[in-house]
Amino acid sequence: MKIYRNINYAIVVALGVALTGCGAGGENQGLEYAPNMYHSVPYEPLSQITDEEAGEAAQILNNTGDGHGEYYNSNPLNKNGMTMRTPPANTVARNKNGYLPYRIPKDSLELAARVMVSPIDSTMAEAAIKDGKILYNRYCEHCHGDKGAGDGLVASPRAGDPDGLPVFAGVANLKSDALKGVSEGHIFHVITWGKGLMGAHGSQVSPEDRWKIAKYVKTLQK
Ligand code: HEC
Repeated sequence: MKIYRNINYAIVVALGVALTGCGAGGENQGLEYAPNMYHSVPYEPLSQITDEEAGEAAQILNNTGDGHGEYYNSNPLNKNGMTMRTPPANTVARNKNGYLPYRIPKDSLELAARVMVSPIDSTMAEAAIKDGKILYNRYCEHCHGDKGAGDGLVASPRAGDPDGLPVFAGVANLKSDALKGVSEGHIFHVITWGKGLMGAHGSQVSPEDRWKIAKYVKTLQK
């Protein structure tokens, strides 16, 4: 058994030597496995090391061949030395799903109904309808009613009103023959811009949520 113990000691000592040999410090760049993985060849987007000699001792690792030290990474083409630049004024960020701002004008409902296609495919439909119900109850039910019949609290005759008038008159019955066949794109457009007496909801309901609501409205219309 003694021989095995000696082998174990030998392994520990060899490992110790091997590991301390890797340490870097001062002028010693140490040993690195695959240095390309740590040292960026392209310019870093944000860092801005303007000292052309920075990391000169590690020139050997600098595979850009630009004659600068290893850590010099200012972008000489940009005024501020960084690769990342401030976007031009009025740049609109895409959201996480890559939606661009909705550009079909309010008065082009017919066009929207034809060309706007829901991004929710059949595999996502069930979950979307579940979310859509919650969103519909939050944003639409008080006018259109929980089943879409246009009989929400705000649209129903007001208690105590001598003429039996609702708070909000003329709310559409989403289950009517006229509306039964409308496309999800049509509903998306109406939520976004509003229509007639109905106000726009584009600023408070995200595009994802509008599509979910549209899908849910279609289930109410069945
Ligand atoms: C403040 C009350 C109110 C709210 C809230 C409301 N609507 Fe409406 N909605 C109306 C009225 C009123 C109309 C009828 C508009 C018209 O034709 O003059 C209408 C019409 C519609 C139509 C029919 C459009 C057409 O082509 O004739 C759809 C679809 C619709 N609403 C969906 C929704 C959805 C979905 C929501 C929730 C995001 C919602 N509405 C929220 C009042 C409301």
